[in-house]
Amino acid sequence: MTKLFVANWKMYKTLEEVRDFFKEFLPKVKDVSNEIVICPPSVYLQEANKLVQGSNVKIGAQNIHSELQGAFTGEISLPMVEEFCDYVLLGHSERRMQETNDIIHKKLLLVLGKKMKAILCVGERLEHRQLGDTNKILEEQLSSALHGVPSDKVANLVVAYEPVWAIGTGINATPEQAEEAHKFIRSMLSNTYGARGKNVRILYGGSVTPEDIGSLIRDQDVDGVLVGGASLNARAFAAIVKV
Ligand code: PGA
Repeated sequence: MTKLFVANWKMYKTLEEVRDFFKEFLPKVKDVSNEIVICPPSVYLQEANKLVQGSNVKIGAQNIHSELQGAFTGEISLPMVEEFCDYVLLGHSERRMQETNDIIHKKLLLVLGKKMKAILCVGERLEHRQLGDTNKILEEQLSSALHGVPSDKVANLVVAYEPVWAIGTGINATPEQAEEAHKFIRSMLSNTYGARGKNVRILYGGSVTPEDIGSLIRDQDVDGVLVGGASLNARAFAAIVKV
């Protein structure tokens, strides 16, 4: 299976910086066979989609609303983004501050219903880990998001394990902690979906840098990474995808 490298730009970059990034990044990664996805702020999806035409880089949205349309000031819907992207990030811990498991479940059904790819983020907070509740939280988040998702849809599912205490903190999970969580997620997916669950890609996210990518990605259950801070820099992200 090829590895998947996803950049989450969060609320960073101006339009000019977006253009500069792709100008520098695309030539650096043109021979990379691993899959690369960039998730810019939604206002740049259209332009980013244009800039990556003819390249090996795909575009993803950082979020969508759980309804397809309606009186939701400031929100963005799936039909608005779908022509510009192949992927949608869902359930990022920064979104989970305002979103329940039920809302994330609704969004996941919308995305998978459209044959787009969903990257479902799950992960424990520090207090959960300290109490030994990591697997319990992962199980809760996964089972509520996947409730009623039929097995023929999971080919378009990617799960990202992102321990909340590792996001933007400069502290990443040790390769052993990541491996353990990935194995647990893998076993849940295989129990629910059999062989199809075995093929779902599981990414690691949280303070990934060019320096530590090599040790994080060596485990066979780590199918790629979701990168925030280090993905803003074309040189750093290119070094990560070329691991
Ligand atoms: P980080 O963010 O790489 O800056 O820790 C990861 C993420 O939020 O997905």
